[in-house]
Amino acid sequence: MGSGGEGTLALSAAEIIWVSEFVVYVNGRRYAWWLSNERPPNSPPGLQNVPGLSVHSTLLDLLRRVLGLTGTKLGCGEGGCGACTVLITKYKAPAQTFESHAVNACLYPMLAAHGCAVTTVEGVGSTRHGLHPAQRALAEGFGSQCGFCTPGIVMSMYAMQQEASARGKKLSDHDVEHGFDGNLCRCTGYRPILDAFKRYASDIEDVQCAETTACGSCSNSCDSPCGHAVSRESRLRAAVRIDPVASESCRSELTAKSYENAHFVLHGSEWYRPIDLLSMSRSLGATDRDQSASWTMLVGNSELGIEFKARHHVQSRIICAADVSELLQISAETDGLRIGASVTWTALSEFIGECKEVESKMGNARAIQEQLQWFAGRQIRNVSAIAGNIVTASPISDMNPVWIAAGARFELLSLRSMRRRIVLARDFFLGYRKVDLSEPDDEILLSVVLPWTMDHEFVFPFKVSRRKEDDIAIVSSCIRFALQRDNSGWFFRDVSIAFGGLAARTLSAAETEHFLLSQGSLSRSVVEAAVKVLRDEIELVESVPGGMREYRESLAVGLFCKSIAGLLRAVFSKNDGFAADGILKSFQSFVALDYPDDKSLLCSRPLSEAVQICQAAPAQTTGTHGNVESATCSGVKAKAVVGNSIRHASAELQTTGEAEYVDDVPLIVGTQHGAFILSDRPHARILNADFSQVLACDGVLDVVTAKDVPGFNSIGQPPFFDELVFAIDKVTHVGQIVGLVVAQSKAQAVHAAKKAVISYEDLPAIIHLEEAVRQGSFCSYAPEQRIEQGDVDSVFAKTELAADHGDCGRGPIVALSGEVRIGGQEHFYLETNGSYVYPIDGGREVHMVVSTQAPGKTQAVVARVLGMPSHRVVCKTKRIGGGFGGKETRNFFMTSALAVAVDKLKVPIHLFLDRDVDMQISGQRHAMFAKYKVAFDTHSGRILALHVELFSNMGISLDLSLPVLGRALFHLDNTYHLENVRFIGKLCVTNTPSNTAFRGFGGPQGMMVTEQVIDHIALYLRKPAHEVRSVNLYSEQLCKAPFGMSVAADRIRACWDRVLESSEMPDRLSKIEAFNASHRTRKRGIAAIPTKFGISFTFRTFNQAAALVNIYLDGSVLVSHGGVEMGQGLHTKMIQVAATELRISAEKVFISETATDKVPNASPTAASASSDMYGMAIVDACAQLNARLAKYRAENEEDGDAWKSAVLAAWNERVNLSAQGFYRTPDLDAVDLSRNEKGNPFYYFTYGAAVSEVEIDTLTGEFCIVRADVVMDVGQALNPAIDIGQIEGGFVQGVGWCTMEELVRGSENAHAWFKSGNGTMLTQGPSTYKIPGFRDVPLDFRVELLPLTCEKPTVHSSKAVGEPPFFLGASAFFAIKNACYAARCANGYDDAFFLDSPASVERIRMACVDDIVELCLRAHNLDPVRYRPAIVL
Ligand SMILES: Cc1cc2nc3c(=O)[nH]c(=O)nc-3n(C[C@H](O)[C@H](O)[C@H](O)COP(=O)(O)OP(=O)(O)OC[C@H]3O[C@@H](n4cnc5c(N)ncnc54)[C@H](O)[C@@H]3O)c2cc1C
Ligand code: FES
Ligand code: FES
Repeated sequence: MGSGGEGTLALSAAEIIWVSEFVVYVNGRRYAWWLSNERPPNSPPGLQNVPGLSVHSTLLDLLRRVLGLTGTKLGCGEGGCGACTVLITKYKAPAQTFESHAVNACLYPMLAAHGCAVTTVEGVGSTRHGLHPAQRALAEGFGSQCGFCTPGIVMSMYAMQQEASARGKKLSDHDVEHGFDGNLCRCTGYRPILDAFKRYASDIEDVQCAETTACGSCSNSCDSPCGHAVSRESRLRAAVRIDPVASESCRSELTAKSYENAHFVLHGSEWYRPIDLLSMSRSLGATDRDQSASWTMLVGNSELGIEFKARHHVQSRIICAADVSELLQISAETDGLRIGASVTWTALSEFIGECKEVESKMGNARAIQEQLQWFAGRQIRNVSAIAGNIVTASPISDMNPVWIAAGARFELLSLRSMRRRIVLARDFFLGYRKVDLSEPDDEILLSVVLPWTMDHEFVFPFKVSRRKEDDIAIVSSCIRFALQRDNSGWFFRDVSIAFGGLAARTLSAAETEHFLLSQGSLSRSVVEAAVKVLRDEIELVESVPGGMREYRESLAVGLFCKSIAGLLRAVFSKNDGFAADGILKSFQSFVALDYPDDKSLLCSRPLSEAVQICQAAPAQTTGTHGNVESATCSGVKAKAVVGNSIRHASAELQTTGEAEYVDDVPLIVGTQHGAFILSDRPHARILNADFSQVLACDGVLDVVTAKDVPGFNSIGQPPFFDELVFAIDKVTHVGQIVGLVVAQSKAQAVHAAKKAVISYEDLPAIIHLEEAVRQGSFCSYAPEQRIEQGDVDSVFAKTELAADHGDCGRGPIVALSGEVRIGGQEHFYLETNGSYVYPIDGGREVHMVVSTQAPGKTQAVVARVLGMPSHRVVCKTKRIGGGFGGKETRNFFMTSALAVAVDKLKVPIHLFLDRDVDMQISGQRHAMFAKYKVAFDTHSGRILALHVELFSNMGISLDLSLPVLGRALFHLDNTYHLENVRFIGKLCVTNTPSNTAFRGFGGPQGMMVTEQVIDHIALYLRKPAHEVRSVNLYSEQLCKAPFGMSVAADRIRACWDRVLESSEMPDRLSKIEAFNASHRTRKRGIAAIPTKFGISFTFRTFNQAAALVNIYLDGSVLVSHGGVEMGQGLHTKMIQVAATELRISAEKVFISETATDKVPNASPTAASASSDMYGMAIVDACAQLNARLAKYRAENEEDGDAWKSAVLAAWNERVNLSAQGFYRTPDLDAVDLSRNEKGNPFYYFTYGAAVSEVEIDTLTGEFCIVRADVVMDVGQALNPAIDIGQIEGGFVQGVGWCTMEELVRGSENAHAWFKSGNGTMLTQGPSTYKIPGFRDVPLDFRVELLPLTCEKPTVHSSKAVGEPPFFLGASAFFAIKNACYAARCANGYDDAFFLDSPASVERIRMACVDDIVELCLRAHNLDPVRYRPAIVL
């Protein structure tokens, strides 16, 4: 590449040879295909014949669809979840070595795998040949629940280990803690994964990589398993030894491939993989043959892959520049770091890490490194290159501000003329995604020169996003100060300020730079004046893209202040003390200055740790620090398997990728694929639907619509049936199904579906909840729900109404009023909705494999739609990759649409939704809005009366909204005795997809309202909130809920007292006070929150369950029940119950699947009640079998395998070895809230309490959970480790709900920045919707189970655990609110204030009113006291 400069690059005129054999090794096996128009005779047709494959196909397509390796999962298709992680090993010609990296197979182009070895989870270990130790560690450590994320997590761990081993490094706990920024898990809450892998990493730390391919079982070298006893250490040695390029032939072929240019033609499109600039330029020449053809280049495909997917447009020519040697060079030169355009972020970070230059020169480079900590996930950084980021010119790029502030120079090259020119980064970005590449389809970025910094030059990069890890920035910045000194002090010699997220392109704050340079001195007055100049310079319009105008402005100013604080720290920490005192003193009360300051937890997160304390169960199980004892059952010894922490029954299958989900089911020959044609209007009349272009597309079989429905097109809750399978003459929300395209491949179906031309006449639409409330858009057929008790009005008559703010005097009884806004929540199950429907006997029967929590209901709905009796419709579910309520009903309309197509076309049809479609059409947790009025005793804080009007956004149809609203009302009391209440619930209709069940089923929303009310009282009284909570708790005398059910007050008190004690709450309160007094911009807060959760379906009929227990002659037992395994460990617990009841080992019991032809009419797996109900049904079945077998067991007691002998003896005597058990939950009332009825809607309650402490950054709104203590009463846990997993997972999901998870739906009325697509869900995937990641786990996470038994007769005295812990995540919300209050008080705002949920970074920051917020708000004539960032529900 040379040392740069402008001019013409000379290239050789040598002939270029292109090879067309696509070669890839997968798990050690060679695969090759000719991809050329001129294929050698007799070469196998291969990929050319796979429908839907194109030059844009991904490695995941190759693995799953061509090679049938289904262990690698599709979770999002956009690089955001890591479910598709595989290891790529590639020969690096410059370094002459093989390098391995984790990549996202969903974005990695299939053809880029040419010349690579790919290792998938199947190649790492298997149940047949033995698990890899990392797989085993995860399985044994309870690190998988639904298991859908698990193969990806295993592969990330495996890749980390391979990378470390290649570099001769040991893995540390730190590596593990920070190694999963590209993976998500929605079930576990991450703690068990981190613990399992930390233990694993410390186990292997001394193991050296061996070069042989020995099995590792013994000291001999051997190629096949030798059956030698495997010691722990040798197993670990074997793990490190797995070599992706083990065979010599593989090594030499892949080495040779790295020196070859490749050219592939696939279905008419071309792919070039040049290895140097000469070939690259020639490949362009080749494309020039057809002047009309456009070409594009890519490296990591992390931008382009997503763009192509969105556009569904096949590029005719692609040049992959990932292996162009000149673009891969990186060197330290005299003027700075010269970085080739195709250098990946990982390579750059490693180079900087190993760079030997003096530290004072490294300022810009360190800024890059720092920014990379929060840049994408590891898998993306491993493949994506600097050029892709620069040329894309995203206004929210994290790096472009750094290049600009650093004064980087971009070297550009015309591929046709080979002319080079240099452009300053500052001048390169011209507009929205527009850069100074002057010749389209010609000029490329060749390299970047990042200047060295000089003495007294300091660089400060920042990025603020919704989630700290792997998120796109809201605002990013980089500020470089160059100082000089004279006798009077320090002066600005040079200043460069750049921001992302404030304009259509990366912005340089030129006026502020000029101001600082013109003013010169580093003094408080200059900086304060600069703050105002900056604010004015960056002033945003209300319609700024993405909104959050005031927050973005405050952030930009805050980041400038942080940079100044950093500058002072940097200058004076290394300085001789010159002028330090004076300058620092002058800055003392400056808003951003915490000086001297230790590193914030947010910047340098320490290692997290955890403790789990289990109750003394029948088989005592106690563990600490992630070490829940795992008692495996073997033989008759382990009779009492209930109460033991037996590992998840599918754990090994999940960690090896062998566990099958709907998308993994082997397809019957002739299977077609479906894609929906969806409405893009929120409310409109369909004038015409033209599918001719759809039908003309390649591979399309048909388009199925409402007219094809043989039975009923209307589904939804009986008796209303208010939901349609297919829209008929109008659409009522974006995402409604208008038609279903059936085609040969998914890609063809999806592509064709976009070709539908539908003309609409728009009708008025209501998109948001408060709009619906204002317009009175209430559900006409669902009656208002109501719980009333006592005399609310007469209590209020005695009170004086205090204003929300300000002191209104303090009588003995005061009334406060307020509003609570609670956002919805996306389920984000890692496995999206999927169904496979196939006809049997020419369509007389329809069978389905569905990812559903309700196979029984799915069967019934499909039968209705097809007009078929239920006995000819079978629905099966083996397991699902997470449901959380989202798959309780929302799969019905999708599966029904598929069934209609199957009925019409008589072919099997498969449909697995893409993440964006799933999020767009399937509905979410109900957003709710409440108005309250509360009267309380000002002396004690005791609530005397509470009036709540609760509005719920049901979406367009009823679905489960009525019972969800009912449960919200049933939980409005939470754990508090409320004498006088009036709770009114109303369902609001909006033109959005129907909202639905989500863990907690409305309960959390109800409890959130009351906790906000209590917080309001506490703020008003200026009392610690936990004291007000404590005073209001149910007590022995006051233990009747407003709906008439008795509450176990002693258990609430036990949880509450225990958590206050174990969390050392009083002591920590004073420590937090001290911390807050000594920190200006970091504040801590703490909150204790109790919970009680009612167990049972409130629809009484659903509280019944059946199970079938079959004993076979070999003594094995097959249990079938109506519940679905979705990660909650239901099957594992049921196996434990059956084994315990039959007094056999757990290995003898197996559960295969849930199927409607085995157990009919099952209720959905929901309401946390499945273990209780199916457990009891199994107990019943086992009791019948035990009675029948008693005689034979007694007679065969002495036999070696007494059980098997007894079974055989019974069979010989013609005893029925199959029994059906049944259970209906006793003591339940059908409580009708439309009539304010009283009674027992629940069998019992599960109780718990949590204390969370957080630290917030008041300048950005970022937060970190410092510690969380959870105490729960789950009775005698059937499986303590599984229950703890539910608690940790539920807690973290709850934290997500009320902090970072914010749904945004486009609306012209609600968002000034919104342009088009009214009613469209804008948060459609992991890039825009942030669930908690690995680094959001509490730093110190303690979970304790109380040693109690269930107060009601339940299966082995256990209690339900799935939903109850969810709400405890709200303790983090209230701790955040507490910290915000500390920040407000420090700035003189000590009145009560409101914080809406979720407490996003925006809301946290804007609640911390300080000089900066005031400045930014007043500039827009907004009142800092009343300002509440908009939340659109
Ligand atoms: C999950 C995920 C997370 C992400 N997180 C972040 C983040 O935190 N911060 C952030 O800033 N970005 C982020 N990105 C964006 C993206 O990953 C980066 O911008 C990345 O650097 C793009 O590089 P690439 O090689 O993958 O680009 P590609 O997709 O291969 O190419 C992108 C564009 O650059 C062009 N191009 C590539 N090389 C050249 C060249 N030499 N000359 C001219 N044009 C060229 C291509 O033609 C194409 O138009 C993220 C992306 C994903 C998918
Ligand atoms: S499926 Fe690839 S990252 Fe989500
Ligand atoms: S176990 Fe991780 S998503 Fe379910």
